This record gives sequence, structure tokens and C-alpha cells, in this order.
Amino acid sequence: MKQFEAKKNRKTILIIDGGGRGAALVDKYGQSKQVGKILVVPGNDLMQINTRKHVVTYQNLKTNSVAEILQIAREEKVDLVDVAQDNAVEAGLVDALMLNGVPVIGPTKLAGQIEWDKAWARSFVGGYLIPIPKYKIFYTEKEGIKFVKNYPKRSWFVKASGLAEGKGAIGAKNANEAIDAIRKMSKFGKSGETYLLEEWLEGEEFSAFALCDGKNFKVVGYAQDYKRVNDGDLGPNTGGMGCVSNPLIVNANIKNKISKIFQKTVDGLRQEGRPYIGVLYLGGMVINGNVYVIEFNARWGDPEAQVILPSIKNDFIEVADAIIFGQIKNLKLEIDNKVRVVVAGTAKGYPIDYLSVKGKKVFGIDKAIKSGVKVYGAGIKRDGKDWVVNGGRVFYVMADGKDVIAAREKVYKAISLISIEGDNLHYRTDIGWRDIERVKQ
Ligand code: AMP
Ligand code: GLY
Repeated sequence: MKQFEAKKNRKTILIIDGGGRGAALVDKYGQSKQVGKILVVPGNDLMQINTRKHVVTYQNLKTNSVAEILQIAREEKVDLVDVAQDNAVEAGLVDALMLNGVPVIGPTKLAGQIEWDKAWARSFVGGYLIPIPKYKIFYTEKEGIKFVKNYPKRSWFVKASGLAEGKGAIGAKNANEAIDAIRKMSKFGKSGETYLLEEWLEGEEFSAFALCDGKNFKVVGYAQDYKRVNDGDLGPNTGGMGCVSNPLIVNANIKNKISKIFQKTVDGLRQEGRPYIGVLYLGGMVINGNVYVIEFNARWGDPEAQVILPSIKNDFIEVADAIIFGQIKNLKLEIDNKVRVVVAGTAKGYPIDYLSVKGKKVFGIDKAIKSGVKVYGAGIKRDGKDWVVNGGRVFYVMADGKDVIAAREKVYKAISLISIEGDNLHYRTDIGWRDIERVKQ
């Protein structure tokens, strides 16, 4: 039995997330001397592996179970809640916790509209003269179909306005594909009732993360996510198959532009009576040295959190307090200069059909950890002595290094030690290829 460091006067933290991002937060809060106990809704069984602090998960709850989460906060005398999942923001969890006097990191429902309502977000961001793709908003299937028929050869992104578990944006290379995509919007229920048609921009994507206290912000890191399921950026889009921090595409010029966009956004949200408190995620695209905003999210990225959080050297409670108490300006963020690569280990068939892999055993997690990497659990659970698959993205392996070559070598050596019963593990073998090509040049 592991000996947990449970001492008096230490804080109890409640994290709202179930996946690898939540596991990275558990790891980070767990490193703080000020933290005694970590509760996670819903969490997963593998999260305990990265910390000696006592981790309690509530796997029967959902991230938007507002009443139950409030009850846990009260009963467990929680000192801080960190809301990392988009649907919890949309459900108003942050507002409810604030009303009850519970310190919380995360935006209110109104501030989080920047993620849960893409139609609103486009008009808000566009209003501050931030570069975005050309777009048009539609409320019926008929209107959108009529519109795209005028442009038979144009490429589009068709997007559900509401939250759709990362599946709501569909690329369409011509009007016929766009019509198919528009017809798919209804399967997102309320989230697809309003949808957008956007021009398909071609460029290189990155994500950037800012810690915001409602008034000021500090950029904490950048990442480049590899979203397609297969090597060579082929196959369907996923929640993210792996990423690199900090990517080379984000040079000094791009950083400068990103900072200006964050400034306009944070100022604009405050001026419109929606001060943003928490982590703000800018999904951007670089085209000819210019930055376009593809999306804002009201949370850490997953798996971006798994590479950026480990780079923070401050005690994380110090960072959390700066966000909550309006002290971001005075926070001396200490970030190490290592490159990090994370690779998602998924059930074969993800993201389309992987139900038959559920319940299969996962081997080699301990061996991988012993090789000097971090393993963050996601769709995985304990079954007696075994680890078994419980979701599409099963776990993440993350390594650091002095450069992308070193980090990547370490991460792939470690993941090769892991397998899923019946040869059911899938992962990309080329995460970081853009930066590898750049350093080789
Ligand atoms: P979103 O749902 O807005 O996060 O979009 C998911 C992914 O679709 C993004 O990360 C991009 O890879 C892609 N995407 C979304 N909108 C566009 C666009 N207008 N042009 C090109 N790619 C896009
Ligand atoms: N990795 C993409 C996201 O978290 O939305």
C-alpha cells in the first residue's frame, strides 16, 4: 500500500476532468507542498500513478453534474476547484461554485461562450479586428444548402455552433461535400441547430495558452497538435493523437502576434462584462507569417496540457492563486526550456469503432514509466490486478528532451513497451514530424 502524504492544513483540490489533461493536472497539483488531497470528477484509475498525494475519483459522475459537484465541494471542504472540461463551463459549474463561495479556476458560462457558441465567438472575435476565416451563420439546413450551391468548387469547413466533443467541424472540398456535412449537423442535436460555413484556410496550426485573471494574462506555452488518426496526417480528425511543445512554427514574430490577439480578446471580454478567469486556449493558423484564429477554447487542450503543465516550475498553488486573486501581472512564471512530446495510445479503430477493444488488457505501463517518461491515464481502468481499456484514447506517454529529436526518441522507446491484448494498440509514429523536418534543415 502506498503511503500517502496526508498532513494537516494542506489543501484539498477538486479537478473536473476525466482524461489525460486531468491526469496532468493531478500530477501538477500533486507536486505542490501545499496540497494534501486531490479529488477528481470523474477521473480515472491511472491518475494516482503520478503522485504520492491521495487521489479520490468519482467515476459515476459527469463533468456537468453541477449539484453533485457542489455537494462534494461542501462535504469535503474543498479549497479550490479547477474546471478543465468544456461542458462543465457550459453547464454553469463555475457560476454555481462562485455563488457558493468556493474558489474556482475556470470561466463563467458567459465568459466561456467563446467556446460553447462558435457563432457568437466568431462575431465577438471578428468585432475586435482579429483575423479569422470568412464565415456565415445558418439556422436551417435549407438556407446553407442553397448558399453553397452558388459556389460549386469552393472548400468549406462546416461547423456546429455548439459543443460536439471535438467532432463538430467537418471539412468539405466542394459544394457536394458541404451539403453532406450540412446534413450531418442535425446529429449534433441542439449544438448543430445553428451552424457555420467557413472558408477552408490552408496553413500550419498551433495552439497557445494564456493564464487569465479577468484583467491581465500571461502566455504560458505553445503546442502543435497532430489531430488526424494516422501517420502522414491521414484519416479522420480526433481529439488529438499527440503534440509537441514548444513548436518551432511559433517564432518571435508569431509570439508577438499571439500576444496581441490575447490582449484584444481578454480586454474585449472584460469590456463586455464577461471577465475571463482561467486558461484561455487559442487555436490558430499561421499563413504567410500572419496568425488567424480558428477557435478559442475555455480550457486547457488535451493533450496540450500534458506537455505544457510539466514545463511550469512554480508551485502550482502559487499560479492558481494568481489567477483567482487577480495577481497574474505579479506572477513570476518560471518555465523550463525543454521540448516535450506526448503520444496518445488509442484503442484500434478509434475514433470510429473501437467498442470491441473495451475491456481488453493493457500491458507494460509500469515498464514504460520506469524508462523515465510520464504516463497519463485516460480511457483506462483497473480490473483486479490488470489495467483494461475503457475508452478511445487510452493513455498518453510524454517525454522531455533538450530538443524534439531527443524527446521523440524517448517517448517512442517507452510506448513500444506498452501493448493492448490482441494487438489492439494504435498510435502515430510520426508525432512532431514538422519540427523534426525543421531541425534537420
Ligand atoms: P474546431 O472544431 O473549430 O476546433 O475545428 C477543428 C479542426 O478543424 C481545427 O483544429 C482545424 O484543424 C480544422 N478547422 C476548423 N476550421 C477551419 C478553417 N476555417 N480552415 C481550416 N481548417 C479548419
Ligand atoms: N487538442 C485539442 C483540444 O483539446 O481541443
